[in-house]
Amino acid sequence: MDNYSQIFHGTAFTSGEEKEVIILKDHLFCVDEKGMIQNVVAPEDDLYDTIIQEQEGKERFHRLKKGQYILPGFVDLHIHAPQWAQSGTALDLPLNDWLHTYTFPLESRFSDINFAEEVYSDLVATLLANGTTTALYFATIHKEASFLLAEICAKKGQRGLVGKVVADDPEQNPAYYRDPDTKTALAETEEFIVAVKELAKATKQGVYPVVTPRFIPSCSDEALQGLGELAAKYDTHIQSHCSESDWEHSYVKERFHKNDAFALHGFGLLQEKSVMAHCNFLEDDDVDLFAKTGTAIGHCPLSNAYFANGVIPISRFSKNGVEIGLGTDISAGATPSLYDNAKQAVISSRMLEDGVDTTLPPDKRGVADSRLTMNEAFYYATAGGGESLSLPVGRLEKDYAWDVQIVDTKAKENKLPIFDANEDLYDIFQKIMYHVKPVNIAEVWVQGEKVVSR
Ligand code: GUN
Ligand code: FE
Repeated sequence: MDNYSQIFHGTAFTSGEEKEVIILKDHLFCVDEKGMIQNVVAPEDDLYDTIIQEQEGKERFHRLKKGQYILPGFVDLHIHAPQWAQSGTALDLPLNDWLHTYTFPLESRFSDINFAEEVYSDLVATLLANGTTTALYFATIHKEASFLLAEICAKKGQRGLVGKVVADDPEQNPAYYRDPDTKTALAETEEFIVAVKELAKATKQGVYPVVTPRFIPSCSDEALQGLGELAAKYDTHIQSHCSESDWEHSYVKERFHKNDAFALHGFGLLQEKSVMAHCNFLEDDDVDLFAKTGTAIGHCPLSNAYFANGVIPISRFSKNGVEIGLGTDISAGATPSLYDNAKQAVISSRMLEDGVDTTLPPDKRGVADSRLTMNEAFYYATAGGGESLSLPVGRLEKDYAWDVQIVDTKAKENKLPIFDANEDLYDIFQKIMYHVKPVNIAEVWVQGEKVVSR
């Protein structure tokens, strides 16, 4: 028992199956020196009283206060770190105009390492304060600034998966913001992968390099092919955007006479550690290909409301065996919070189910069986994100990392509407998902290390 480096006593919520939230009332969570959960002990277990008697009062024993609850840390499965600098603005144009008018000019500024330092430090701290313990980041085309983002994650204790973006096609990318040529793009990606793998050796929670073609329209065939080969050579994660909007989806069809999914697969970019953002327009055979290759969808419901030209049928894709996690897609989604995105996932799915055009009769308006519950949205923000990345995070179970947020429902700046001393714990879970703000997130732990304390 003495090899536990931290022991937590409290009530926790974690996912079982997608629709199921498991409530662990007054449990003990025993964490080893590597930051992994070694034991979860229920009050009826033999060891329970022994552990409390032996450990209570010691520095390593943490008894949660009344009104506090443990949730797994969130996994943000799709976020553009540089775009934090324009979050909340620039939401008036469709995707391709938005990229050229606002986003490429902003991202080009990350050649300035001081600007990158300022934006990235603020973003990583903000995400942690919002309960996000793992994030899958797009950086920019700049190798140095992308590596700096990985270093900032390493230093602040967040599990960061970071991609140097590749955008080499001179037809689609402006001269002021593109890789100088395909060869350089691939060489710099390889150098970036090697450097981040080296950095990871000294980082307890892990940092990971990610092969990151921005999206098919940004990249030449040679770049896509080379990136697939680099991912295989170094066994890295892969991320991109896939079938996001009407414009993007039809651009790929015109260029390759197939959908994004099959085009990406042809370049070796769909595999177990691939995460594709959006995927709103997947057809049945694309969905099967995702399921077969283990490719995950990074679902970004708030971003989709602005840029996707439709609502993604997540419930159907999930029933067909595709792994799904939740992303903010900053700045197309204008919030650093996965709580906000969990709510939006539920809201958008309800609008898909009911439909939106009131001139149509009810039976013609919507798409049946589309709704998601908050339990499913919570799953996507936690366990689903971990599975998508093939990492042991997002669940409060033995052999998972101690990545958690300790939520205080009694924080005086935002007291949750809980009035009954014996309120049903499932109702408390739902109130947490709908009402928590960063002021309620009292502590955040990643890999057994405390990284936020209010
Ligand atoms: N497709 C290519 N780049 C981007 C981006 O930055 N945001 C979104 N939402 N879609 C993209
Ligand atoms: Fe995106």
